[in-house]
Amino acid sequence: MVFEASAPSNIALIKYMGKSPLGGNRPANPSLSLTLNHLRSFVTIEAIDATTDVWEPLSGFPELKLSEGGRKKFLSHFYQLKRHWNLGGHHRVRSANDFPPDCGLASSASSFAALTLATYEMAKSLNPNLKCPPVELSSLSRQGSGSSCRSFFSPWAEWGDEGAEAWDLDLQLAHAVVVVDDRKKSVSSSEAHQKISSSLLWQGRPERAKSRLEDLKKSLATSDWRSSYEICWAEFWDMHALFETSRPAFGYMSKGTLEVLDKCRQIWLHENDGPLVTMDAGANVHLLLREEQISQAASWLAGWNYLKSWN
Ligand code: DP6
Repeated sequence: MVFEASAPSNIALIKYMGKSPLGGNRPANPSLSLTLNHLRSFVTIEAIDATTDVWEPLSGFPELKLSEGGRKKFLSHFYQLKRHWNLGGHHRVRSANDFPPDCGLASSASSFAALTLATYEMAKSLNPNLKCPPVELSSLSRQGSGSSCRSFFSPWAEWGDEGAEAWDLDLQLAHAVVVVDDRKKSVSSSEAHQKISSSLLWQGRPERAKSRLEDLKKSLATSDWRSSYEICWAEFWDMHALFETSRPAFGYMSKGTLEVLDKCRQIWLHENDGPLVTMDAGANVHLLLREEQISQAASWLAGWNYLKSWN
């Protein structure tokens, strides 16, 4: 029997960067994200006669290559889930994304969410009375990779001390990510969480993020688009400044990144309007658009390689 599941990625506008000493990938500050249903991960699980679990890329998608560390993290989450649901035996876990992995498109969020869901499918087949609501699945998934806990809610998710939940805002935004670089990043997000505490800017960072979260929720809820843009802009620069002021410093932005960011700034300057702009721990630039901006997007994005949520 093969159990399968798929889950979406998400892009944070207020970032999870830095972890609480309590462990289990609890965040140092609350975050807010938009779920990206057009960027998904797929996982299948089947029992095998073996002495360990194994991971393989799932065929039919761009071939996923997981590093030794990436494989270990993924299978160790699977092991914890099996312990949680009392599932025995060994399994072959296959996974893939329908977008380039490990380059700031949050493949870890979607793949850990999909693994949690596929394992839940397997648990339910053995125990048909099992009922795990999304908040519980989200909390289990968080322990594998923090940002995955937000992928269980759509379109908006807020993740604070009490776990992730849907943020109830009736606003659908279109998404495009300019893929400046689709190579694997040299510092993983998990490593970044550890390194940034060496930055002098770390002090006060959880408070800044918290206060931006409140401001952003207000500006989005009142359709104050410019303020939303300014808050998102400040927030991703804050995170990237933490990277660049760590000791030793590290970073993700490339020449291409800066060109895209400059173009976005020019759009806002000349049109007094434009996309919300944000970045994850990677070189690629995410844009969020109101429905009525989609017709302009082709000219804004001309000449770049990008993935988009609209047809
Ligand atoms: C920059 O969830 O990948 O994307 O919990 O160690 O697996 P781990 O980290 P991860 O961190 C994501 C960080 C981020 C910002 C965000 O998604 O909020």
